[in-house]
Amino acid sequence: MDYTTIFIFLSIVISFYTFITKFGHRKLAVATGSPPPPGPYPFPLIGNIFELGDQPHHSLAALSKTYGPLMSLKLGSTTMTVVSSHITAQELFSKHDMSFSSRSVPQAATTHNRDNISMIWLPVGDQWRRLRRISKEHLFSIRQLDASQHLRKNNVQELLDYVHGCSKTRKPVNVGQTAATTTLNILSNFIFSIDLAQYDAVSSQDFKDLVWRLMEVGGTPNLADFFPVLRSFDPQGLRKRSGLYVTKLMAIFEQHISARIEARRSGGCLSSSKDLTDLLLDINQNEELSLSMDDIRHLLFDLFLAGTDTTSSTLEWAMAELIHNPKKMSKARSELKEIIGNENESVDESDIKAPLQAVIKETFRLHPVVPFLVPHKAITDMEIQGYMVPKDSHVLFNLWVMGQDPDVWSNPQRFEPERFLENGIDYKGQDFELIPFGAGRRMCPGLPLAHRLLHVILGSLIYKFEWKIEGGLSPQDLDMTDKFGFTLQKNFPLVAIPVKV
Ligand code: HEM
Repeated sequence: MDYTTIFIFLSIVISFYTFITKFGHRKLAVATGSPPPPGPYPFPLIGNIFELGDQPHHSLAALSKTYGPLMSLKLGSTTMTVVSSHITAQELFSKHDMSFSSRSVPQAATTHNRDNISMIWLPVGDQWRRLRRISKEHLFSIRQLDASQHLRKNNVQELLDYVHGCSKTRKPVNVGQTAATTTLNILSNFIFSIDLAQYDAVSSQDFKDLVWRLMEVGGTPNLADFFPVLRSFDPQGLRKRSGLYVTKLMAIFEQHISARIEARRSGGCLSSSKDLTDLLLDINQNEELSLSMDDIRHLLFDLFLAGTDTTSSTLEWAMAELIHNPKKMSKARSELKEIIGNENESVDESDIKAPLQAVIKETFRLHPVVPFLVPHKAITDMEIQGYMVPKDSHVLFNLWVMGQDPDVWSNPQRFEPERFLENGIDYKGQDFELIPFGAGRRMCPGLPLAHRLLHVILGSLIYKFEWKIEGGLSPQDLDMTDKFGFTLQKNFPLVAIPVKV
C-alpha cells in the first residue's frame, strides 16, 4: 500500500470512528436527559486538539472562563472532561470517586505490558488494591520511613558537600539537576541501599539520563492517544522509544534484584537494615499477598518514575520563588534558624515545622508539578451539576487554574507562604483548594516520603547558603515562566551560585 492509500484508508476509518462516538454521545444525552458539559465547538475529525496549544494548563484555564468549572472537549475521537474549580473537584471526589478512578493510559505507557502491571496505569481492581496496600502498609509506613531516615541524612550531606564545593569555587549550580540527583539517590538508597546517580555526571547513558528520556517521551503529545485507531501504528515512534528506555532501566533493576537474591541465598546481606527490595522479596515469599517478580520490577520502576521528576521540579520551583523573592528567602532562613539554632549543618526531618511547610504549600499552589493529576477515566456515566460525563471520558483536574482562583486566594499571583500559616489548608487530600498529590483512591501513595524529602532538601539548601543568580541578574529579572511536559517545569533552568552564610 502506498502512502496515499494508507492516508485515505485511515481518514475513512477515523471519520467512521468519530461518527460512531459522536452519535453514541448524542444518544447518551437523549437517553439520560442531561447534556454533556459545555465546551468549545469541536472541528470534524480533530475536535479541539488545536485549542490545547503547547501550554494546555493555560489554554484550558482561559476556556474555563467561558465554559465554566466543568467543561467537555473532543480530542480527536476521545472525550475529555476538565474540572477547573475546587468546588467541582470536591463534588467529584466525594460523590463519584469510584466512578472515575480508572486511568486513560497513554499509548507510550503500554510498552512491556505496563498497562496491565503498573500501579500507575492499572484500573482499580484486585491487583491495584494489592499494590496500594503493600505501598501503604510496608513501603511508605511510618516505621519504614523512620528506619531509613539515616540513609536520607547521608544523601543530604552528599548534596551539601557538593554545594559547599561549588560555593568555594563560585561554581554555578543547576538547581533542578542537582535536586534530581539527590532525589534519585535518596530513592535508590531507600530501594536498593546504593547511590545510582552522581553530581556532575557526564555519561549520557547513566540511570538519571534514562529516566529523563522516558519523561520526555511521556510529555510529548501523541496522535495515537487522540485517535485510538492509530495505536497499533505508533505514528510518532513514541511507544518504540519508551520501550527502549524501559528495557534499559529494567535491566539495571534486574541486576540489583538478582544480586540481592543471590546475597540472601548465600546468607550475606548487602544492607544493614531492610530496604524496599528486601521487603518486596519477603512479600514475594508470602503466598497470601501474592506478588510476582515481574510485579516487583514494575513496582520499583513506578516508584522511580513517579517520584523523581515530581520531587526535583517542586524543589527547583521552591528555590526559584525564594530567590525571586529575597525577603521571603531571608524570612524562611531566619525561621529555620529559630527552630534549629545555628550550629547544625543540615536540617533534620524532625525540624519540619509550619513556616517551611508554608513555603512548600505555596510552591504547590503556584506550580503544581502534575498540573492535571494523572488523567483519570470514567468507568460509568456520571451525572454532575446537571451534566452527563460519559463513560470512558478522560477526566482532568486543572490544578494550575484552581491555584489562581481569586475567590479562594487573595493576590493569587504573589508568592506569599504566610497565607498558609493562617488558613490551615494542607495537601493531604482533604482540602480541595490544594490537591497537588490528588485526593481519593488514586491519591499519590508516595506522599509521606515526598513530604519528608521536599522539606529536608529545601531546608538544607537555604539554611546555610545564600543564592546569587548567575550572570549578575537581579532577583526580579529571574524568568518564572513554565513549560508543560510530563511535569510542569521551569521554562529556563534555575542556575545559581551558592554563597555560604
Ligand atoms: C512532589 C512530589 C510528588 C507529587 C507532587 C506527586 C503527585 C502525584 C499525583 C498528582 C498523582 C496522581 C493522583 C491522581 O491521579 O489522582 C501521583 C500518583 C502516584 N505517585 Fe506521586 N507525587 C510525588 C512524589 C511521589 C513519590 C516520591 C513517589 C514514590 C516514591 C510517588 C509515587 C506515585 C505512584 C506510584 C502513583 C500512582 C498511584 C496510582 O495510580 O494508584 N509519588 N503522584
